[in-house]
Amino acid sequence: MNLYATTNPNITEREEKHTQIVRELAARGMVLLKNQGCLPLKAGSRVALYGNGARYTLHAGIGAAGTICRHVCTIEEGLSDAGIKVTTGAYLDRYDETKETAETAHYEMLWQRAQNNLLRGVIAMYHEPFKMPDQSEITETDMPKDVDTAIYVLSRNSGEDTDRDAGEGDYLLSKIERKNIEILAVNFKHFIILLNVCGPIDTKFIREIDNIGAVVVVNLGGNLTGGSVADVLTGKITPEGKLSDTWAENFIDYPSSAAILKQPRDDLNDVYWEGVFAGYRYFDSFGIAPAYPFGYGMSYTSFDIQILSPDTRKDCFVFPVRVTNIGNEYEGREVVQLYVSAPQGKLSKPYQELKGFEKTKVLEPRSSEVIEIILPVVDLASYSEEKAAWVLEPGAYYFRIGNSSRNTHIAAVWNLDKEVITARCRNLFAPDQDVPEIKAELSRFYTYESEEDEKKSAIHISIDLSDISVMTYDYTIKKSTFPVPADENIILFENVLTGKSTLEAFIGQLTPEELCCVCVGDAWETCPKQEEGEDFIATFSLNGPGTTGGLNEKYGLPKFFMSDGGAGIRALPWFEMDDEGNCLTDGLLSIGGTEKLPYNPPKTAHITKYYQYPTALPIPTMLAQTWDKNLLRRSGNLVGEEMVGYDVDVWLAPAMNNHRTPLCGRNFEYFSEDPLLTGIAAAEMGAGVESIPGRFVCFKHFACNNQEYNRHSLNVHVSERSLREIYLRSFQIAIEAVKPGSVMSSYNLINGTHTANYQDLLTDVLRCEWGFNGFVMTDFGTTRGPRSGPHAASVPYLCISAGNDLIMSGAREDVDELIESYQKGDLKLSELQWCAKNILTILVRKHLAAQSS
Ligand code: BGC
Repeated sequence: MNLYATTNPNITEREEKHTQIVRELAARGMVLLKNQGCLPLKAGSRVALYGNGARYTLHAGIGAAGTICRHVCTIEEGLSDAGIKVTTGAYLDRYDETKETAETAHYEMLWQRAQNNLLRGVIAMYHEPFKMPDQSEITETDMPKDVDTAIYVLSRNSGEDTDRDAGEGDYLLSKIERKNIEILAVNFKHFIILLNVCGPIDTKFIREIDNIGAVVVVNLGGNLTGGSVADVLTGKITPEGKLSDTWAENFIDYPSSAAILKQPRDDLNDVYWEGVFAGYRYFDSFGIAPAYPFGYGMSYTSFDIQILSPDTRKDCFVFPVRVTNIGNEYEGREVVQLYVSAPQGKLSKPYQELKGFEKTKVLEPRSSEVIEIILPVVDLASYSEEKAAWVLEPGAYYFRIGNSSRNTHIAAVWNLDKEVITARCRNLFAPDQDVPEIKAELSRFYTYESEEDEKKSAIHISIDLSDISVMTYDYTIKKSTFPVPADENIILFENVLTGKSTLEAFIGQLTPEELCCVCVGDAWETCPKQEEGEDFIATFSLNGPGTTGGLNEKYGLPKFFMSDGGAGIRALPWFEMDDEGNCLTDGLLSIGGTEKLPYNPPKTAHITKYYQYPTALPIPTMLAQTWDKNLLRRSGNLVGEEMVGYDVDVWLAPAMNNHRTPLCGRNFEYFSEDPLLTGIAAAEMGAGVESIPGRFVCFKHFACNNQEYNRHSLNVHVSERSLREIYLRSFQIAIEAVKPGSVMSSYNLINGTHTANYQDLLTDVLRCEWGFNGFVMTDFGTTRGPRSGPHAASVPYLCISAGNDLIMSGAREDVDELIESYQKGDLKLSELQWCAKNILTILVRKHLAAQSS
């Protein structure tokens, strides 16, 4: 039994403590988009509260990252607890029944479709997530006469295996939402909109409807979303979040939109025609004004950003900046962002790219702090496919500093007189079709009034490049066979831990069949097993008892437990055990939403119920919006601590794909459109988890899982340069910084090859260039499906030879197919042993850490 499971149904001290941390994390990730003096609310204010998220506040996304928690503090509750009087109880009460009826009907429909099968129920729920119905039109009687402030909470959710919709009720307002917002805008003196959303929506209504006085992106903030909202609205915490994405004026402005709108849903090809011009890089370089730019967010106070003399330290540029809170009333924090415009050379470059950021501490009015942004010169290199190298092209590099991508000033210029190669690679990711990419058009570059003058008067800095050595990589990986040990006695896993035997000798004694079992996992620890005996890797193993596999009995090979997450640990919030110690609760019930399916598990006499509520963190997009490295690390620590409590070895997160379109159903699990912000956020969270010895993260989904429709079969056509500079770059940053225990390949294909079968990705880049030394697992079920045709699944033996060490969730058929491939000679013993070694190395690390702690 894990440490958290208890028969006491009451809230535990750990939950209390962790939810308070989460309350702060969420508040610091909320973004103030607009404020014309409505905020902060005065103590004891009375407000008229509307919108479907007011009482049914969304706290988490749907799917693998949908953590169920004990109680969600709604916005209505949070405001009331903070002493703000909500005066529209009757209107909100009326919506209760509408929502209840719609929800019951929806889940009954799903259940019928699933023919009373829980797994099918989950899949149906993924494909058709519940959308809250509209509220009724607001009438005279719904608007209290003696209240001058109205708040409207607009909610949007999304999840795994399906994408959002560009139409009304999702990306756009529904007709009734728009109408209600218009009614409130004319009837209240102060009108505040709260966006309880999983990602960007169309915000034109904010500019079209007069008298919307304030707008806050409050996102989905975990357990205490409503409490965090109250902290921000009352000014207990001054808003300090900054957008981690560009919020476009029009959906069609995103470079991926035209194809999405045009594509029939069954189109299995996605051409990344915008190349390196991802997110703001595109808006800034092609003359498109965003509604709210990347990096933008307001405060209740104002800051002065004074750029001090730039300097160099070894092979880094150093930019000291003095930030002063120039307001008189509110404390606050500012995020200082460094962007660089690189010269146009042979390689077409965006107007600017984020190259560093730092956040101040809390600054009292009139106080200041000097912070430094440090930028290694090699981070300015671009990738040349022609040279198969990272190069600094000659020309002027302008450094821009400010508090959003569209509010910077030039801090310095560096003139490089000749090309410098910083790393020599090998051409990888050969295209499987032509990928026509756009090129920069200087005439459409963003500019601002003083830019040319600033360029002319910019301070020139120089840096000594003699210390920079060109990185080179060795792409040969020797997979030699580990011989069967001469001693016939069985080597137990324990012998490896005590140093009596080597891991190679342990692996050498395993038969090919046994090695195939090591390389195939078992997801359904809490479900009836398909066949007892072979598997030792499980997920959702939060209730302890487990089964003993054959490898365990013969070699003492312990099990290894994984759990999903993203925004906390996805654990069963409770489970039931019979007197014989069998867990009766299906692990699938740890997925948020399943509790609403009319599923009735078989009843048994003499059961004991255990409680073990996890903490729901804010969605990762919101964590990125804090731009706060310390807080991100702290959130990783919190997860790591809960992993110890639940006895989870590997956290199947952080997920770190790019926000390429706002419609991707899993964007909330991902951090940003920008690879640097994503990489740093994931690195900090990962380091926070892995600072707890023997606990590991799994960076996923490697790579380009940027949409959910057809996720198993989508073929992403993308250039090597765009992969390396944008889509792999975030992984590179996090993996080089953390050296994590594991990585999960994605479902999609890149340039015609399933990522789980892609040696270029999983070995050449991941291990040979970035030095990854953990194990790679597949995303769950990617090897199961047709063997040919457009929906062909990935191939088990190619997983092993490409360096995808572990097949998850694993099935008997995977083991059988691997054995057959070995027997046919398609798979070598050394390849199986190599993968087994990668997996077992992490298992050894876990046990050695446990022994020494
Ligand atoms: C998701 C993964 C997740 C796995 C296990 C897959 O469907 O894509 O992110 O870790 O399921 O739940």
